[in-house]
Amino acid sequence: MASLALAQSPPAADTGKKIFESQCALCHGQNGGGGRGPSLLRPKLDKAPDEAALRGVIENGIPPEMPGAWQLHPREVAALAGYVKALGAQPVEAIPGDPARGVQVYQRSGCPGCHIVDGQGEGLGPELSTIGSRRNAAYLRSTVLRPADGLPDNFHYVSIQLSKGSAIKGIRVNEDSFTIQIKDARGLFHSFEKSDIKELKPLPKETPMPSYEKTLSASDLDDLVAYLAARRVK
Ligand code: HEC
Ligand code: HEC
Repeated sequence: MASLALAQSPPAADTGKKIFESQCALCHGQNGGGGRGPSLLRPKLDKAPDEAALRGVIENGIPPEMPGAWQLHPREVAALAGYVKALGAQPVEAIPGDPARGVQVYQRSGCPGCHIVDGQGEGLGPELSTIGSRRNAAYLRSTVLRPADGLPDNFHYVSIQLSKGSAIKGIRVNEDSFTIQIKDARGLFHSFEKSDIKELKPLPKETPMPSYEKTLSASDLDDLVAYLAARRVK
């Protein structure tokens, strides 16, 4: 009897942990240290500063990359929120490297040619002003070393061959039945009528971002990752 009652209403912390491992760990890591999603081992979460906001994030997700767990019962949401808060009470992820030196690595590696940070820079890559809130250090490191390995879901790189003349590669910004808009390597927008296009080819495994595996020393890489990880929602 007692064990049955226990099975029906397990302690909240355990429920939260189980839901986390089955529905959140895929992106936030088995123990919350992050992966495609940010590390949750932080006392203060930018998008979930309090309990109500945390429950909202869990239920509604954060479009486009985090799905909402709308199928959960409010009690399960509460248990999960409790578990996420407990994760945040653990010691913070230690990142080797010096963010101040990382700025210099960032500047001299050509990153501002493709990314904007706090209004500075340009180009076709995603804005990085708050990248540290969205990605953990391991993800940042692997993106810099092997950018094609973990392309964001909403990223579509395409090649367009026009019926008359030239071919162009770019990131798809928008598309409807008749036209497509892309941003090229220099960050310039182009709009094409689909009737003028001979071939539109998705390039699912490609990115214009170069790999920095051969160009950065180990300490430069640590400093760069420390700099990126510190770009957070204020
Ligand atoms: C498909 C991947 C994915 C899944 C599954 C997922 N998340 Fe997320 N989560 C993300 C991403 C990516 C972000 C960052 C989004 C942004 O800031 O744009 C995020 C952000 C968050 C945040 C805000 C963090 C902050 O710093 O403010 C919380 C809290 C969170 N997720 C909790 C959860 C929980 C709990 C679950 C399980 C129900 C879950 N996530 C499932 C990808 C995911
Ligand atoms: C030629 C343009 C280009 C250059 C140069 C470039 N990037 Fe990128 N970067 C991109 C594009 C495009 C993406 C999105 C697709 C992808 O992940 O490869 C991206 C993605 C990223 C991401 C992942 C963003 C996310 O939301 O997941 C990070 C982090 C990043 N770049 C950092 C850097 C850093 C640091 C440098 C300099 C060392 C750099 N990039 C240089 C074009 C560039």
